[in-house]
Amino acid sequence: MLILGIESSCDETAASVVKDGREIISSVVSTQIEEHKKYGGVVPEIASRRHCENILGVTRKALADAKITLADVDAIAVTFAPGLIGALLVGVSFAKGLAAASGKPLVPVHHIAGHIATNYLSHTNLEPPYLCLVASGGHSHIIEVLSYTEFRVVGRTHDDAAGECFDKCARAMGFPYPGGVHIDHAARSGDPAAYKLPHPVVAGSEFDFSFSGLKTAVINMIHNTEQKGTEINRENLSASVQNTIAEILTDKTIRAAEALGYRKIALAGGVSANSGVRNALSEACRVRDYEFFMPEKSLCGDNGAMIASQGYYNFVNGITADMSLNAIATLPVST
Ligand code: KG4
Ligand code: ZN
Repeated sequence: MLILGIESSCDETAASVVKDGREIISSVVSTQIEEHKKYGGVVPEIASRRHCENILGVTRKALADAKITLADVDAIAVTFAPGLIGALLVGVSFAKGLAAASGKPLVPVHHIAGHIATNYLSHTNLEPPYLCLVASGGHSHIIEVLSYTEFRVVGRTHDDAAGECFDKCARAMGFPYPGGVHIDHAARSGDPAAYKLPHPVVAGSEFDFSFSGLKTAVINMIHNTEQKGTEINRENLSASVQNTIAEILTDKTIRAAEALGYRKIALAGGVSANSGVRNALSEACRVRDYEFFMPEKSLCGDNGAMIASQGYYNFVNGITADMSLNAIATLPVST
C-alpha cells in the first residue's frame, strides 16, 4: 500500500511516498532554515508563505522520484496538528484539495505520532507496545506507545522543550539558529564536567521535565563571565549543556520504564539527532538489557516520510478524515 505523506507544521515543507508504513520510496524536504536564521527563530507568517509557494513542487517531486502519479497512491496523509496554525493550514488545505480532486482517502496525522513512526522506517522489527521519548523544538514527552494508533503521555515539560533549551543556550553562546546542532558539534571537543549546571527538580509527576532553569543558569553564567572580563569556553559549555540535557532526558525515561514495566525504549523528535542524547539513552538501555530503537539521523527532523508511515497505520486502523478536516495548533497526542 502506498501512502503520500505531507508535512508543513513548522519550517519544513515535506512530502514523501512510503510503502506499507515501513519503506521510503521517495522523500523530499524543503527547509526554510536559512530564511528564519536572520530573525533568530521561525517567523510564522514567513513559514506559511513559503509552504504556500513550495508545497506543490515538493509534492510533485516526491511523486516523480517515486516514479508514480497521484492515481497510484492509496491515501493522502497530512499533519493536521500540532504546530504553527498558518503553516498547518497550508498542508491541510492542499491535502484536502488533492483528496477531493483524486477521490483518494484523506488521513489526518498528529505530528508527534509522526515523529514516533520514524522508528518504524528505521527498524522494520519494531512493534508496539514500547516507551518513547519524543524530544523536539516544541515538545519533550515520555509516551507509552500502546498500539500503532494509541498513545498515553506519562511525562511532559512544564516549560521549555529540550530542543528549545538547546537553541536558547546556543543563542546565548553566539551560535546561529537553530543552535542545537552547533552545540552538538562544539561538544565533541569539550569537557562535559567543565561547568556545573542544575538538574531541575519538578513538583508533580516524577516523569515530567523542566528546562527553563537550565537555560537561565547558562545565560547567567555567560553574563557573569562577561562581567568579569573573561570568556566562556564554548566547547566546554556546549559539552556541559549537552551532557546535562542528555542526563535529564535519560534519567526520566529510564525511571518511567522501570515504573511502568517497559523493556523496549525508543527515541524520536528533532533532538534525537543529538549525539549526546543518543549515546546516553542507548547506553542506559544497554546496561539494563533493554531493547533500544532510534531513527537514522536523516529522519530525526521534520519530514514527510514520518507522516506517510503513521498515515499508513492510521489508515489501516480506519482513521480517516472528511472535507471538514481543520488544522489544530495545540492538541495532545494521547488517545
Ligand atoms: O522535530 P523538529 O525538527 O521540529 C519540531 O517538531 O519542533 O525539532 C527541531 C529541534 C530544534 O530545537 C533543533 O535545534 C533540535 O531539534 N535539534 C538538535 C539537533 N538537531 C536538531 N538539538 C540538539 N542536537 C542536534 N544535533
Ligand atoms: Zn517535529
